[in-house]
Amino acid sequence: MSTAERRYADFYRYQAASPTLRDIYVDVYGDDYPVELQPFGFVTRTDLERIAGLLEMPAGGLLVDVGCGRGGPGVAVARTAGARLLGLDVVASAIEGAPALAASLGLPDAEFRQGSFTGTGVSSGSADAVMSIDVLWMVLNKPAAMTETARILRPGARFVFTTWEPAYLDHTKLLAKAGLVVDLREETPAWHDRQRSVYERVLAATDALSAELGPGAEVIFAEARDTPPVLGGTPRLLIAAHKP
Ligand SMILES: C[S@@+](CC[C@H](N)C(=O)[O-])C[C@H]1O[C@@H](n2cnc3c(N)ncnc32)[C@H](O)[C@@H]1O
Repeated sequence: MSTAERRYADFYRYQAASPTLRDIYVDVYGDDYPVELQPFGFVTRTDLERIAGLLEMPAGGLLVDVGCGRGGPGVAVARTAGARLLGLDVVASAIEGAPALAASLGLPDAEFRQGSFTGTGVSSGSADAVMSIDVLWMVLNKPAAMTETARILRPGARFVFTTWEPAYLDHTKLLAKAGLVVDLREETPAWHDRQRSVYERVLAATDALSAELGPGAEVIFAEARDTPPVLGGTPRLLIAAHKP
């Protein structure tokens, strides 16, 4: 397990015990924050509705959510799209509570497995859509992740994801190299101000967050300290692509 994965594992073990972190997101995002889905990061109700529409799934089709975390955001999209859901995350403690959360959100048949962007374990051409929220920026071998996504999609199916794009990286080119064609690429609404506000509030609440999250607080603190200087040049993008 890499250091990053260990930090995420700690975070997920303690996330539910942190009302302070939840309240920071609610404070910044208001009603747009899907608190009942227990997301880890910056996803909004607006993002989820947009993603569900862009996936263009057949009813009952298979939706794979890569880097699903606790699974809530994928459940919301699958419910809206009328899809079957398979959530994958590289960190086992992320998905431990996912089946119970999915059941409480009205999707008891959702499946969750440990798996990575570069090795999903999903059969070739079996996914009717792939989604991923705020994960790809962490994946070291992005070309391999794109190739794996292209492999599991059926022809005509879409890959819709959010991530951050620094100036040296061009997701459109990465997708093209894997044989995927970009249909839409846009910045998500108000991402910069909202993200900056979350980081400011996190750094102002380190005592409470340390007490609630224990070792799981470090991943949040590191991001809140290190990201603001580069945030302006690293837009949060929503990208939709398809496999021809
Ligand atoms: C910021 S969280 C987002 C989680 C979830 N999508 C959400 O919005 O609540 C990023 C997630 O990506 C997972 N992750 C990181 N690298 C991954 C990889 N190579 N393959 C699959 N998941 C990965 C982490 O364990 C973490 O759960």
